[in-house]
Amino acid sequence: MSVVKVRTGKAYEVHIERGSLSRLGTQLKAIKPEGKVALITDSQVETYYLKPSVDSLRDAGYDVVTYVFPQGEAQKNSDELLKIVNFLADESLTRSDMVVALGGGVVGDMAGFAAATYLRGIDYVQVPTSLLAMVDSSVGGKTAVNLPSGKNLWGAFKQPILVLCDPDTLQTLPEDEFINGCGEVIKYGMLGYPELLDQLEASPLVDHPEDVESVIEQCVKIKAQVVANDETEKGQRQFLNFGHTFGHGIEKGSHFTVHHGYSVAIGMAMMMRAAGKAGVLSQEEVSRFLHILEAHHLPTTTDVPLSTILDIAKHDKKSHGHTINLVLPAGWGYTELRTTTHDKLAAYAVL
Ligand code: NAD
Ligand code: GLY
Repeated sequence: MSVVKVRTGKAYEVHIERGSLSRLGTQLKAIKPEGKVALITDSQVETYYLKPSVDSLRDAGYDVVTYVFPQGEAQKNSDELLKIVNFLADESLTRSDMVVALGGGVVGDMAGFAAATYLRGIDYVQVPTSLLAMVDSSVGGKTAVNLPSGKNLWGAFKQPILVLCDPDTLQTLPEDEFINGCGEVIKYGMLGYPELLDQLEASPLVDHPEDVESVIEQCVKIKAQVVANDETEKGQRQFLNFGHTFGHGIEKGSHFTVHHGYSVAIGMAMMMRAAGKAGVLSQEEVSRFLHILEAHHLPTTTDVPLSTILDIAKHDKKSHGHTINLVLPAGWGYTELRTTTHDKLAAYAVL
C-alpha cells in the first residue's frame, strides 16, 4: 500500500492500494473507531461498489446508513445538497459520526460540502472511484455545489480525515471518464514535473493501465505538497488551475457537453500554442505536448468561438476587476503565475 500524507492544518493520509475497498471498514477503524457512518454515493457507483463498501463497514462494527442520488454533474446542485443534509439530520447523525463519500468528484464535492456544514462540520472520508477524483478532487478539501450562475460557487474548504483509493475500481469506469481524468494527470506534469510528461509521452496511460497505480501516487504526492503549502489557494495552489481559465470557458461555452478534463486539455493546448508563438517554448515542445494529449485521446481544439471562451474567462473566479491571474507555461514541465489585464488575455490563447 502507498501512503501519502497531506500535511494540512489537520493532517490526513491518502491510502492507495488495489483491492482496498473491501478493507474500507478496517482501514477506517484505525483512524476513527467509533461513530455512525452515512455512506453517500451516486446511482452508477451504487451498482458496483455500494454493497462491498457497506459490508466492509458493517463487518468492522459500524452502524451504516446509505443515501444514493442520480449520477451526473446536473445533480451537483443546492436542491440535492439539501436532501443530503436533511438525510443526515433524519438519521440523527451527531458530531461524533461521519460521512463517507463513495464515487467520483460529484459525490466527493457534494458529500464533502454536506459534511463541512452539517452541525457546523462533521468528519468525512473520501473513497474516490473515478480517475479524476483519485488524482485531484478527493485530495485537498475543496467541496462545493454548482449554482445556476456557475460551477462550484457555493462551497467550503474542509479536509477529509482519510482518502481511500482503490485503483481496481477503475475497471468499471467508462473509457471517456478515464480519458477525462487523464487531462488532469497531464496537467501535473507541467507543475514542475517534466519527468511525468516524459513518462506519459513514452507510455500513454490509456495504453498502459498497469501504470495507473504509480501515476495516481505521483499525482497525489504533487497535489499533497501543493495543498500543504497553500491550503486555501492564496498562492501556490493557483498552479493547479493550469488550463482551467480557458477550460472553464470551453466547458460553459459548450453548455457542459465538453467535460472538465477534456476542456482543461484544450485550455492547456491553447496556452502551449501561445507560449510557442511567444518563444517561451520551442515548436518541438509545443508539438510534443499536443501529441501527449492526442495520445490520451484528448482534444486540442474546439468549435466554441474564441470570443466566447475569452468572455467567460473574464468573468472567472480568478478575475479581479479588470485583471486576472493566469498560470502560464514557462518551459517544458514548468509554469508560472502572472497577473494580466483582460484586454491582453487574447495573447495567451491560440486555438
Ligand atoms: P463524476 O463524479 O460525475 O463521475 C463521472 C461518472 O463516472 C459518473 O457517471 C459516475 O457515476 C461514474 N463513475 C465514477 N466512478 C465509477 C466507477 N468506478 N465505475 C463506474 N462508473 C463510475 O465526475 P468526476 O469526473 O469524477 O468529477 C467531476 C467533478 O469533480 C466536477 O463536479 C468537478 O467540479 C469536480 N472537481 C472537484 C475538484 C476539487 O478539488 N474538489 C477538482 C476537480 C474537479
Ligand atoms: N483542483 C484544484 C484544487 O484542488 O485546487
